[in-house]
Amino acid sequence: MSRELKKFSTKIYGEVIRDAIGDSLHPGGLDLTARVAELAKISKDCKVLEIACGKGTSVRFIAESFECDVIGMDLSAKLIQIAKGNVVKESFLERTEFAIGDAELIPCINSFFDVVICESALSLFPDKRKVLREIYRVLKSGGRFVATNIVLKRDVPAELRRKLTFALCIAGAETLEKFYELLERAGFVDVHAEDHSEKLIALGLKLLLSDSLTGASTVSVTDRLVLRKLFNEDMLGYALMVANKP
Ligand SMILES: C[S@@+](CC[C@H](N)C(=O)[O-])C[C@H]1O[C@@H](n2cnc3c(N)ncnc32)[C@H](O)[C@@H]1O
Repeated sequence: MSRELKKFSTKIYGEVIRDAIGDSLHPGGLDLTARVAELAKISKDCKVLEIACGKGTSVRFIAESFECDVIGMDLSAKLIQIAKGNVVKESFLERTEFAIGDAELIPCINSFFDVVICESALSLFPDKRKVLREIYRVLKSGGRFVATNIVLKRDVPAELRRKLTFALCIAGAETLEKFYELLERAGFVDVHAEDHSEKLIALGLKLLLSDSLTGASTVSVTDRLVLRKLFNEDMLGYALMVANKP
């Protein structure tokens, strides 16, 4: 099942959502990425990895803002192709790199990065423990992991757990307490979070009203009704989480 879910979610981002909500495929856009970079203490001499980088928008933003080396990795070959195309156009080539890869098996040596970021993708990893262990492994001692993600205010009822709500980072989300537990079990310390829930509402509305979503063959009428219910009821929040490798 997890292979099928991964395939579906990369299809949704590569073919449906990539045109619906602009270049940043996460609530808060680059304003929130700037806050992620600030809390991750990114500076010119940092080596940064973005897990699940989508179209590479944040990779380009960080490479340009801080003049540091940034690698973006995503499971979607289509999105990596778009990311590479965008960078060639903007000539950030020397400082950025993109690779197709699964967050559960990061193709990198131990203790290489100063910072790992992951924006709106933790929900999409069926085995979050494995991913967090991998992130911990590739970070240097003293390195920072900063993630933004949907957090559940209460359990999503079984009837609202569908392939689409998984792909939209809802059904696979956890409560903030559970994310803390997962991070601490992976070995991270000083785990703390900021609330950015208001940014999720804005993006949810944009997505629900977009033609790419309403016209997509992969999205049924029931899917759309379920989405409305999730956004109408107070089930979802959005958090920025910081965790350090000792
Ligand atoms: C909500 S989008 C966020 C993209 C990007 N972080 C951004 O904010 O613009 C989620 C991304 O996760 C990627 N993804 C899903 N499962 C993945 C996995 N197992 N490993 C790496 N990337 C994955 C999808 O292809 C998609 O690009």
